[in-house]
Amino acid sequence: MMRPPAWRAFCCLKFRVIYLLLTLNVIILLLYGDNYLRTCEVTKAKLTNSIAKTSCSFHSLSPKEAQVANSLKRLIAWPETLSLPPHLSLSDTSDPAHSTFTVLPNERGSWFVGGQLEVLIKMSDFHGRPKTSGGDFLLARLHNPTLNAGVAGRVFDHRNGSYTAVFPLLWEGSAHVEVTLVHPSEGVAVLEKLTQEQPDRIYFRSLFRLGSAHEMTTCNICLRSSQRLCNYTDLSTGEPWFCYKPKNLSCDARISHAKAGFRVYLRPVEEKLFQSAVNLKVFIPASGPAHIQVRSQFDYFYRSDFNFPWDFSGGVKQTMQSSPSGYYYQGAWRSLDGTTVHQFNTITAISQCLKNKALHLYGDSTIRQWFEYLNQSLPDLKEFDLRSSSQTGPFLALDYANNILLTFRSHGPPIRFRIIPISNLHYIANELDRVVGGTNTVVVIGIWSHFSTFPIEVYIRRLLNIRKAVVRLLSRSPDTLVIIRTANPKALTLYETLTNSDWYSLQRDKVLRAIFKRVKVKLVDAWEMSIAHHLPHSLHPQPPIVKNMIAVVLSYICPKTENL
Ligand SMILES: *[C@@H]1O[C@H](CO)[C@@H](O)[C@H](O)[C@H]1NC(C)=O
Ligand SMILES: *[C@@H]1O[C@H](CO)[C@@H](O)[C@H](O)[C@H]1NC(C)=O
Ligand SMILES: *[C@@H]1O[C@H](CO)[C@@H](O)[C@H](O)[C@H]1NC(C)=O
Ligand SMILES: *[C@@H]1O[C@H](CO)[C@@H](O)[C@H](O)[C@H]1NC(C)=O
Repeated sequence: MMRPPAWRAFCCLKFRVIYLLLTLNVIILLLYGDNYLRTCEVTKAKLTNSIAKTSCSFHSLSPKEAQVANSLKRLIAWPETLSLPPHLSLSDTSDPAHSTFTVLPNERGSWFVGGQLEVLIKMSDFHGRPKTSGGDFLLARLHNPTLNAGVAGRVFDHRNGSYTAVFPLLWEGSAHVEVTLVHPSEGVAVLEKLTQEQPDRIYFRSLFRLGSAHEMTTCNICLRSSQRLCNYTDLSTGEPWFCYKPKNLSCDARISHAKAGFRVYLRPVEEKLFQSAVNLKVFIPASGPAHIQVRSQFDYFYRSDFNFPWDFSGGVKQTMQSSPSGYYYQGAWRSLDGTTVHQFNTITAISQCLKNKALHLYGDSTIRQWFEYLNQSLPDLKEFDLRSSSQTGPFLALDYANNILLTFRSHGPPIRFRIIPISNLHYIANELDRVVGGTNTVVVIGIWSHFSTFPIEVYIRRLLNIRKAVVRLLSRSPDTLVIIRTANPKALTLYETLTNSDWYSLQRDKVLRAIFKRVKVKLVDAWEMSIAHHLPHSLHPQPPIVKNMIAVVLSYICPKTENL
């Protein structure tokens, strides 16, 4: 594939730096941060070959899996992922500062609880010219800071440069509209292209050791070139994983796995599509008032023109309905799917709910956060020291008096953690096969953020494997409670965007919901719980949001709890 000469390495450097000279003449800077080991590879020369030859072993999907993958890909197909023009100019791309939103008037002249609000968003470019195609990634929120209330809106793309955001009206009083451009459509196109052309932009390494001999090689799902490989494909799940074969040691000598680094090649104009305060997660201004007053349903019923049958849609076309999973009111999450979310405000309330339960948490650091939260909230829940790193786990905690067991284990590769021993690198599906299950067993799964740089098939395969294991668990022990945490939006910089943009997360989140749709699992909608909240988006949401997530989890475990 031809690459313009302007392509260059994008580098990122943070945190404490340790220099290591590796065997392959490549200088890699290993950066120890809390969650990432970041690397900057400063070589530019090899890039033409290196990109073209990357191959991803997801092609080994079975025919049935491939069929599922194709229908899921149609489900998440992004409107108008335009092919980027060769002479792309930033000024022709979506500019939030020149774009506006307008609260659409309601036929009835006022808004009522139970109704719906429509907002029209018109996108323009940096010259102020209206956009005529869709595909911008927008988020919308309706909120009231005084009531600590908020709900995520649903955005419909008309594919002509305009969008409609719809919100349900759930509280009485004022409601403020907030619309955010996460990425211009041109940015989304770059993100799609990156996944196609540079699926190995995050790469991994393993240490091999035998006696005093040791070697380090690069590992991935997508590896380039025809060098000899070690094939670590998991026999029971078929999950592929490969490392380059060490020169002098056998493949069996692998002792650890770690994220090694990140490298990406972007044109300068492509980089400009992801600028904080310009076009990356920037508010779109309102063209008029950005808030409305919502009256109670009572007022609505007693209006003279009130017609039967009751119509709460406020005249909104049936095709554009909002359907959030919940909303915040006075800072507490209220579910709209029929679950009553109880508040567990005391240690006693939480430990009474968890009494006699075994909770097994599996996934990435967003699930580890729940272990940390419970471990911190319950003084009688004592963590047993398994001598594992605070980033990778595994963790185990026990409350003997209340007979509570809490465990956490990280998911398998491509986990982007610091050094993790091979013996601790387990696939969730295999772990689930070892769970007996039953009324007192709760399985919690959260796996999304480490899959963003790979073709979606990699994630689909992983979830299909987990789904099969969940189905097996539920047929062995139908009373087992299985809870799945969805993805959530996060703070985005250029680096975070290229490795873990919310757009990647959104696409994966849709896949997750579709795959588990007909399985008896409960969801914690971290996506909406983050969007609806006033706190800034964060990979690891702040404590008030985690508290609400845990309240949802505990409400699934203890649905009948009264007045805690
Ligand atoms: C865009 O499409 C919507 C929905 O079809 C339509 O209502 C609107 O008038 C269109 N806007 C423009 C500028 O064409
Ligand atoms: C890796 O091993 C798996 C399982 O044995 C096998 O199906 C697959 O073809 C192998 N892949 C390569 C590239 O050798
Ligand atoms: C492999 O072993 C040879 C001979 O002991 C040694 O010279 C060479 O440096 C080793 N290569 C690596 C990559 O460790
Ligand atoms: C659990 O809590 C103990 C006591 O506060 C703390 O030392 C430990 O680091 C915590 N473990 C985790 C994994 O958060």
